Amino acid sequence: MIVDDDPDFGAVASNLVELEGLSASHATNAREALMLCREKDFDVVLLDLKLGADSGLEVLREIRQGWADLPVIVITAHGSLETAAAAVREKAFDYLGKPFPSAELIGVLRRALEWRAGRKSPDTTLQNVSTSTTAIVGNSPAMVAVYRLIARVADTDSTVLIAGESGTGKELIARALHDNSSRTRKPFVPINCGAFTETLLESELFGHVRGAFTGAANSHRGIFETASGGTVFLDEISETSPAFQVKLLRVLQEQEVRPVGASEPRRVNVRIVAATNRPVPELLNSDDFRQDLLYRLSVIHIQLPPLRDRSEDIPLLVEHFLQRTNAKLNRHVIVPADTLDWLKSLTWPGNVRELENAVERAITLNASGRLLPEDFIQFTPAPFLQKNELAITNPVPSLSQEPIPADHSWRCAVPATLDEVERQHILATLRFTDGNKLRAAELLGIGRYSLYRKAERLGIKLDSLSIRTTEP
Ligand SMILES: Nc1ncnc2c1ncn2[C@@H]1O[C@H](COP(=O)(O)OP(=O)(O)OP(=O)(O)O)[C@@H](O)[C@H]1O
Ligand SMILES: [Mg+2]
Repeated sequence: MIVDDDPDFGAVASNLVELEGLSASHATNAREALMLCREKDFDVVLLDLKLGADSGLEVLREIRQGWADLPVIVITAHGSLETAAAAVREKAFDYLGKPFPSAELIGVLRRALEWRAGRKSPDTTLQNVSTSTTAIVGNSPAMVAVYRLIARVADTDSTVLIAGESGTGKELIARALHDNSSRTRKPFVPINCGAFTETLLESELFGHVRGAFTGAANSHRGIFETASGGTVFLDEISETSPAFQVKLLRVLQEQEVRPVGASEPRRVNVRIVAATNRPVPELLNSDDFRQDLLYRLSVIHIQLPPLRDRSEDIPLLVEHFLQRTNAKLNRHVIVPADTLDWLKSLTWPGNVRELENAVERAITLNASGRLLPEDFIQFTPAPFLQKNELAITNPVPSLSQEPIPADHSWRCAVPATLDEVERQHILATLRFTDGNKLRAAELLGIGRYSLYRKAERLGIKLDSLSIRTTEP
């Protein structure tokens, strides 16, 4: 049974299912779905969470009560960790975010049918997770895939390796794994492995006995012991030494630690989540990272996509940071759609963290109540404002294509130094000339080389300012 208020989706899904040699009925609302359930003996249900006025979750609940062993696959166009967790709480079989590749749907359907036929144990289904308190924003297909993975593995003791560029949310995901596990009432302890020397890191994690090394006046329990029952988040795991890696591998294999200087190992009960900024394929080929440890750590591997590959999440993230910052500062700043489009068109090499900082800074410094590109340009280091050529799905007006307002002035909040004012005026003029330096210098009444000198002194990267997107 396909339950979706969208008749087009119903038709497409029916076709797909029929190609697999199955037959399907289509219900478009809750009443119809439950009526059909009573009439027919379905093997699997595909259920949209949003059914017009009806709630898909309610249907899921009723199906669970009346037909406990009927697998329900929840689909949603509004993927979030909350909906994934809710689906799991109500014992959905699996969770898919629209749009999904048809192969993925078929794969899940087959698993559900096998499970229904009793050939697979239910441990291939979603794990039971509790409500999450972590706000993870974004509903791009890549993020929905991440939510689904979190929902599936959170409440297991499997070691998880989270890989992704700096600022993509690795620590946030690690916390979500912890929050959605039965360890949630126990500690979540993040530790940045790159910030310690080998000896310190060992003593920090494994603990040490009195007199183990110079300065060890007292014995010290390590994080693996103090976090007992909880989760230890080993950040920047690739920065550890091979010697340390051997010891960590032993902890993973034996579930015990040997404090520095101790003769006897001690049993520990922690779940380990590790993270790395370095791409996993690179680690696989590197001499300074042990392959056996890598395999052991990445029982589950979560790859967080860089923000430039999911620019559709940018408006949601900006709204999220905007609301938070407005509340914190008691402001009511808004972001016009044009600004959102412009933000979407940038590459964000520092990923979500960079976007978060840029929005906070822009709001703090904004005086007009409306965030405009210049609020960002003015105070953001130029490399962060590069155009993202790939992200432009619907052509985004570049600055140069925006209609030039009759009044091309810029605002300046006091206090500001003369350097800041000068910088802002040069930037505004360069925008006015579409990045044409010669013309900007003319308008500013200075020579081209003095413009270069000023730009250098004020940290304006003239080259990255050629914002005009050259047409291929
Ligand atoms: N999907 C998201 N929704 C909301 N906030 C996010 C999201 N992803 C990241 N953030 C925020 O961005 C910032 C950076 O996230 P986080 O510290 O988890 O990144 P990281 O991958 O661990 O970065 P690094 O490798 O530099 O340590 C945090 O403030 C986090 O709350
Ligand atoms: Mg981090």
